[in-house]
Amino acid sequence: MPGLRTMKAEGRKIAMLTAYDTSFAMQSELAGVDVALVGDSLGMVIQGRRSTLPVTLDQMVYHTALVARGLSATLLVADLPFMSDRDVPTAMNAAARLMGEGEAAMVKIEGAGHILDVISALSARDIPVCSHLGLTPQSVHKFGGYRVQGKNEDTADQMLADAKAVEVAGADMLVLECIPSALGARISRELSIPVIGIGAGPDCDGQVLVVYDMLGITPGKRPKFSKDFLAGRDSVQAAMAAYVEDVRNGQFPGPEHGFN
Ligand code: KIV
Repeated sequence: MPGLRTMKAEGRKIAMLTAYDTSFAMQSELAGVDVALVGDSLGMVIQGRRSTLPVTLDQMVYHTALVARGLSATLLVADLPFMSDRDVPTAMNAAARLMGEGEAAMVKIEGAGHILDVISALSARDIPVCSHLGLTPQSVHKFGGYRVQGKNEDTADQMLADAKAVEVAGADMLVLECIPSALGARISRELSIPVIGIGAGPDCDGQVLVVYDMLGITPGKRPKFSKDFLAGRDSVQAAMAAYVEDVRNGQFPGPEHGFN
């Protein structure tokens, strides 16, 4: 993704936001969002599930196609849902559907380790890949809850090693979720691909939020790393534009949105 690498190289922050349907996609494009993510977070914010695990590939393809209809210039990234990355042929099929039927331009995959083979295989077939490390929600049961990751030296070093490994395997972008701000800065500095944070501090190359969180309509408690951008504004587009502006000028996230 040459455009995003140039933004990183020039120190221009990347604003990414989730979208799940055509109307919200249109609003985010008008607001100047650089990257739209059809996240499997839709399982929680659209379907009311307790985790992202029940989301199916059919549902991801459906929502990705809806979002694609609302975009013309914005880069469209779609999540590979739980277990659709379990081996290379299954991941290849899932990516083909997200890109063919859904019209995504990039797929997002959680984890490293055994996933490195999948990243290499997709990348070798010119399928752009966004990796996702840190609090990877599909591993919530292994983590024992939605907890900040990489808090001690060993886990932080492992995450940096994983980040370098996904880059070598061919990832074009990396999302880091819920990690100490200092680790977010360190990984962003050491990688040449763009690193997008969500609860990873202000020094990543860009930021991503779940759109319902930044509109203040999270089902349940809004996460600490998010902010209600609709408060005091009179439209969804104005809220999204304020988010984009705050990401671009380094106003968001503030210290109160980060972890130590
Ligand atoms: O599913 C999602 O929306 C995500 C973002 C939180 C990065 O993965």
